[in-house]
Amino acid sequence: MLQEELERRGIPKIGLPMQEPEREARREEIRQILRREFYGFAPEFPLTDESEIVRTEENSFGGKGTTYEIEVRVRSPFAYTSFPATLTVPKGMEKPPVFLCYTFTPTIADGLGEEILDNGYAVASLYYEGIAPDKDDQFANGAGRFCRRNPYDSWGKIAIWAWAGSRLLDFLLRSGLCDEKRVAVVGHSRLGKTALFAGAMDERFSLVISNDSGAGGAALLRGKTGEKIENLAMKGSRFWFCGNMEKYVKKEEELPFDAHFLAGLVAPRHLYVASASEDDWADPKAEFLCCVAAGEAYESYGVNGLAAPDRFPEPGEAFLDGRIGYHLRKGTHYMGREDWKQFFVYRRMHDV
Ligand code: GCU
Repeated sequence: MLQEELERRGIPKIGLPMQEPEREARREEIRQILRREFYGFAPEFPLTDESEIVRTEENSFGGKGTTYEIEVRVRSPFAYTSFPATLTVPKGMEKPPVFLCYTFTPTIADGLGEEILDNGYAVASLYYEGIAPDKDDQFANGAGRFCRRNPYDSWGKIAIWAWAGSRLLDFLLRSGLCDEKRVAVVGHSRLGKTALFAGAMDERFSLVISNDSGAGGAALLRGKTGEKIENLAMKGSRFWFCGNMEKYVKKEEELPFDAHFLAGLVAPRHLYVASASEDDWADPKAEFLCCVAAGEAYESYGVNGLAAPDRFPEPGEAFLDGRIGYHLRKGTHYMGREDWKQFFVYRRMHDV
């Protein structure tokens, strides 16, 4: 039934060969397509990582954690940028697995941070507007200034925020403070798009969690209801993408990819997509179908993508067995306690 639904919507195949080096060549081609046509290219010149811990708080979260305030500093031969981040490690844990969490606020909320620590994870928080403001500023501020702009394929804000996540990851991996093999990247909504793009492009993330990310995130664009490319192209969000994105307004069927190409780049690593049943703007069906379609990428590695019955999920259902996890929370657009609970269960189940 679901495969027929994909066909009905005209969803293209990813086309990943089963063997190397052909498979990697196709993956590279997909990365190029996604950057050129939708998200934009990040700087490709050599970078120096000058990030540092600028302050340490020994007893954060009521004594449960140690918090390191990090100044992420990146230098290129042509430019320099810096932005703040934090890492909180649970007391008494050596090299814990981490959630790299994109946040809408400068610090992680107390309750959420505590919950993450109590579950045995460190949390690195990255405030997205500390990287580059979420407004059409002609890329004049923060990391937006870091590489030259063109109106076609240079980075939009999602690619900028994602790039910044990779620069924080550079620091985390060399800090010796966390488990280098188990770093998850997570975000909600526009930051769910960002987390998915970051995790698709950077294979050092072991798990990618995209919550209610909708159009430009985990939702298939062909046949999508709610937000469409024409909405993404409006003034409040067009700068999240590169200029070429606007070619596809009302022309979804001409896209040389769909959201499962992005999701499929996470293969064979773990991917988790979360939807909310009343999130019509994001379109939970389109997010679920993306997980189904991305299964093709996992199969090319001989592993299982989504393990789910051949029908749309009911509100409250979760499918946690495959390399692609999925749940449909009852309720509206939000990343809350119930979502996090499933992320913890999934991570523990898959030790990722
Ligand atoms: C708007 C936008 C969405 C986005 C959301 C958010 O609704 O249209 O694409 O995901 O904001 O980030 O909250």
